[in-house]
Amino acid sequence: MAEATYNYKVVRQFAIMTIVWGIVGMAVGVYVAAELAWPWLNFDLPWITFGRLRPLHTNAVIFAFGGSALFATSYYVVQRTCHTRLFSDGLAAFTFWGWQVVIVLAAITLPLGITESREYAELEWPVDVLITFVWVAYAVVFFGTIVKRKTPHIYVANWFYGAFILTIAMLHIFNNLAIPVSLTKSYSVYAGAQDAMVQWWYGHNAVGFFLTAGFLGMMYYFVPKQAGRPVYSYRLSIVHFWALIFTYIWAGPHHLHYTALPDWAQSLGMVMSLILLAPSWGGMINGIMTLSGAWEKLRTDPIMRFLIVSLSFYGMSTFEGPMMAIKSVNALSHYTDWTVGHVHSGALGWVGLVTMGSMYYLIPRLFNRELYSLALVEWHFWIATVGIIFYITSMWVSGIMQGLMWRAVNEDGTLTYSFIESVQAMHPFYAMRFLGGLLFLTGMCIMAFNIFMTIKGAKTVEAAIPEPAHAH
Ligand code: HEM
Ligand code: HEM
Repeated sequence: MAEATYNYKVVRQFAIMTIVWGIVGMAVGVYVAAELAWPWLNFDLPWITFGRLRPLHTNAVIFAFGGSALFATSYYVVQRTCHTRLFSDGLAAFTFWGWQVVIVLAAITLPLGITESREYAELEWPVDVLITFVWVAYAVVFFGTIVKRKTPHIYVANWFYGAFILTIAMLHIFNNLAIPVSLTKSYSVYAGAQDAMVQWWYGHNAVGFFLTAGFLGMMYYFVPKQAGRPVYSYRLSIVHFWALIFTYIWAGPHHLHYTALPDWAQSLGMVMSLILLAPSWGGMINGIMTLSGAWEKLRTDPIMRFLIVSLSFYGMSTFEGPMMAIKSVNALSHYTDWTVGHVHSGALGWVGLVTMGSMYYLIPRLFNRELYSLALVEWHFWIATVGIIFYITSMWVSGIMQGLMWRAVNEDGTLTYSFIESVQAMHPFYAMRFLGGLLFLTGMCIMAFNIFMTIKGAKTVEAAIPEPAHAH
């Protein structure tokens, strides 16, 4: 019945690819982590050196894993909350296949060293053009569905997804404006400090809108659904939305402290980053408090645990971020592994766990199946959580140690440590991060097995699983 009303095909396709690309992207992450600890793993082969595989990792986890999760959930949520089918099945299919082609092109070009050298926007101009077409189609499908909705209001999750789609379109186009000189090489239209500013306006908002706003959309739908209760405060969610999207867009300069960027712009970025703590925590509180009155679910429901712990990591990384944006703190943390630790507390803890929780809710419903094993979800949860803790604690220690070693001076003003001494000191922490990553990847493989058995399995649910009362 649901099949006739809604387009679940494209949701299923993106949901499956979320898991596939999650494993691929994280496996590359584990490999680059190993290369940092044991550099002989570069094997003197240019295609698999750290410098080429690192952007492959970031593109695969952010755009292939995260992107597929965002497509899958936004297409599901917009249909369910608007009580209508997607605006166009054809365009939705185009976004699926187009996005997969983009990912495959990334996997070919990045190891070959074809790159624009802009972090998180490395792909060369022909791929950028394809991304633009896919994204416009995505916007037409998503907003077209909103327009033909059968409900009077637009549920808040869609506001977040909508902001994510619009802002990423704007960022992608302006950051990638370039003059092509051949099929595989182009030069940015910006230069010098302006170039850096545009890049980090993009880079920070890739975090703010791709890795945050879109996933908050996911949070606002799947947390209430899994908890079986309405969202804690609808009013807070609206304040959260406007405060977050207004503030994020100004915070980019915190990536460029102590550079040629004008001082006032750096200070503005710092102040806006500090303000950003408030809406971020407002959102976290709204999510976590949705569980009030049903706290026992944290003990009994491992899927709920994924969702709620993801919010705790969200709160932690959005506390850490504003602190690191303070110029004097950044003087210590910048260029060190502290940044990498911060990134992965957001990426593994928040983006990773909220995606996994949402997929555990979503996939059995998409296939009319009962989840194969809750015990395996439990195992996944603990292995992933221990992995995250290994990853981020080792990076905190090594990052702060790096920062302190680099700034230590002797009485006569000479440096206490040579750079290579700081590299040697990193080694045990790089091995520990590798282990943490391996655990996280293992959890993902357990999930893939569980989902495979779910879909193949005999535990068919006759009608679509009834959903709890609509959340608002
Ligand atoms: C098994 C899990 C993972 C492992 C082992 C891993 C490992 C790594 C390593 C070794 C780096 C390079 C650090 C450096 O240059 O010093 C890195 C960078 C990065 N990873 Fe991961 N990663 C994992 C999962 C993820 C996920 C799921 C995401 C996003 C959703 C992510 C996002 C990033 C980003 C954005 C960077 C660049 C950080 C920066 O420039 O500061 N990673 N990762
Ligand atoms: C209130 C929210 C946040 C603020 C104010 C913030 C602030 C910062 C600061 C100051 C840096 C270091 C810049 C540098 O020294 O180079 C940074 C790096 C980063 N943050 Fe955050 N952060 C926040 C939340 C998050 C979240 C939730 C995520 C992930 C989901 C995230 C992902 C990243 C990434 C990927 C980088 C590395 C960028 C790069 O150098 O490649 N941040 N953030």
